[in-house]
Amino acid sequence: MRILGIETSCDETAAAVVEDGRRVLSNIISSTLNFHKPYGGVIPEIAARGHLESIDFVIQEALKKAKTKFKDIECIAVTEQPGLPGALLVGRSFAKALAFALDKRLIEVDHIIAHLYAAFLEDAVKTPAIRFPFVGLVISGGHTSLFFFRDFKEFKVLGQTRDDALGEAFDKVAKILELPYPGGPEIDRLAREFHHTKLRFNCARLAGTFDFSFSGIKTAILYFVRDWQKKNPGKRIPLKLKAEIARAFENSSMDVVIQKALAACREKGVKDLIIGGGVAANSLLRSILPQLAYDNRLSVHFASKHLCMDNAAMVAGLAYQMRP
Ligand code: KG4
Ligand code: ZN
Repeated sequence: MRILGIETSCDETAAAVVEDGRRVLSNIISSTLNFHKPYGGVIPEIAARGHLESIDFVIQEALKKAKTKFKDIECIAVTEQPGLPGALLVGRSFAKALAFALDKRLIEVDHIIAHLYAAFLEDAVKTPAIRFPFVGLVISGGHTSLFFFRDFKEFKVLGQTRDDALGEAFDKVAKILELPYPGGPEIDRLAREFHHTKLRFNCARLAGTFDFSFSGIKTAILYFVRDWQKKNPGKRIPLKLKAEIARAFENSSMDVVIQKALAACREKGVKDLIIGGGVAANSLLRSILPQLAYDNRLSVHFASKHLCMDNAAMVAGLAYQMRP
């Protein structure tokens, strides 16, 4: 069964064709990222206009790449929420009109759950068999949430961020360090250059809960940088110090995320931990978590790096599992 997926929750206009919920036949993404860069974040109006301009072409490309005609599509899947309202509206309206005109079923899915589903797509790093129950950790630009899944229709939120999302914290720390937007890949790249640091920034642990908080560590880094600038008037922070700060930020924030995820698995007695969302592409996380999981008798499954970021394959794949 082939499903056409459409995703427009943020600045990527994406369409994909996925067969039987696992095999990605095409995965097309067009982004207005370069138009947002000068502002240091996504401008909702620019994103929505970008979707309007590209959506038709992106869908045609997805079908062409998948060598699929509209008549071969079983149903149409689209991101329902969460996301930027104007951006979501374009994708949902287009998907609804298409489903109506072609007389196909429309399946609307949750963007956050779709991020987790990305780990089950066929070209994911090592596609796991879907085994329930599992604990899911979504770390993206807009969300940081831990879930307990009995199946894709029955799940519970164990905890979430009380302020910034982890990806948002990466972006804000990058801004403090005068690095380009989006900051996650920049911090990741810089941190890899600095292995050992005594520098420590405290990340809130919120003991006894599965909730997160990242605004404190971001502020600690802001104050550290301000102090450095006061002591070194007129100077710019050297790249080596930026790399050390990036590394110290990753060490603390990732430690909290990992410890919470492992604790959730222990409490729920599950054997599988699934990780999705843009920050799941992070090199430090991907290098240290598998061993820690193994030590805890767990299997950890990441989406492939290119499927961590927003895409429509995850939407089409999840829709296959959600179909009535
Ligand atoms: O999942 P996503 O594409 O969009 C949302 O649904 O929010 O995630 C985007 C976020 C951005 O904050 C970006 O900085 C972060 O993911 N990100 C990373 C990396 N690649 C992207 N954060 C840390 N390390 C990375 N390698
Ligand atoms: Zn996303």
